[in-house]
Amino acid sequence: METIGVFTSGGDAPGMNACLRAVVRSALGEGKRVVGIRRGYTGMLASEFEEMEHNSVSNIIQLGGTVLKTGRCKEFYHPQGRALAAASLRKASIEGLVAIGGDGTLHGAHALWQEHEIPVIGVPATIDNDVYGTDATIGFDTAVNTALEAIDRIRDTATSHERLFFVEVMGRQAGFIALATGAAGGAELILVPEHLVEVREIYDTIVSGVKRGKTSSIVVVAEGDEEGGALELAHEVSELGSVECRATILGHTQRGGRPTAQDRILASQLGAAAVEALLAGDSDKMVGRICDRIVRTSLPDTWEKKKPFDQKLYELAAALAS
Ligand code: F6P
Repeated sequence: METIGVFTSGGDAPGMNACLRAVVRSALGEGKRVVGIRRGYTGMLASEFEEMEHNSVSNIIQLGGTVLKTGRCKEFYHPQGRALAAASLRKASIEGLVAIGGDGTLHGAHALWQEHEIPVIGVPATIDNDVYGTDATIGFDTAVNTALEAIDRIRDTATSHERLFFVEVMGRQAGFIALATGAAGGAELILVPEHLVEVREIYDTIVSGVKRGKTSSIVVVAEGDEEGGALELAHEVSELGSVECRATILGHTQRGGRPTAQDRILASQLGAAAVEALLAGDSDKMVGRICDRIVRTSLPDTWEKKKPFDQKLYELAAALAS
């Protein structure tokens, strides 16, 4: 393999640039040519390619977002779109791919391998951490720290005004960000899709805290929570009794910003490991880090197997907050 293509796709995650840097410099170090594909699968379809040199990735390790840009490409869901993308890659002599992104990106990479035999290695990068085959995805640590900083600030206001705050964090269908920020932020309750807590139970927990002398509380809500988002819950809980509620949705503030040291290191390790796997002739795998070891997991396993939810941490956070 002489030419490797690299792209970022799906929701941006802090650390994608550090990963890109690692891919480019590792591959160049092996004497390979590297082509950057702009705007994810959209740019692959439209042949938006650029030569990557050593200096193309200078001074980006500390930047959030992705210098290659990203997107969610509807055409790529269809076989015709993928055939067009495969033809573009062949025309540009791109013989193998490193796909940096979350669940959707990994699905797309698998399809390219299955339908067009283009060797692919995935690198897990999403703030959600909802990918099996790695302890953490690139971007998760930064997002958790960003959300935590916001929660610490909100606690000042909650304490001063003696209020209950519902703080909604991202995570689509998974509660990993909510659990980590809730546990680290000392939240009185953590609401995640993995555990259904009814509105009445939320109210009762808060009221029992008030009876024990709590004058303010923070409830962290994952966006995929079945009982509703922060706005809805704040409204419903305030209807049940005299609890003054406010809601804050942290939204996309969690996606941007400088990656933490942990994310930069993980991104560097996984970027280099992806190139190593591709050049060793491997394909249809994702590289991840489990207990400080770099591992490869088959792409379908990354979405078919479910990353375990840390039940013990969930229970500890509840016990310590009561
Ligand atoms: O997958 C990352 C993520 O930020 C999710 O947590 C969230 O549900 C989704 O992307 C939001 O996507 P968009 O930026 O396209 O609205």
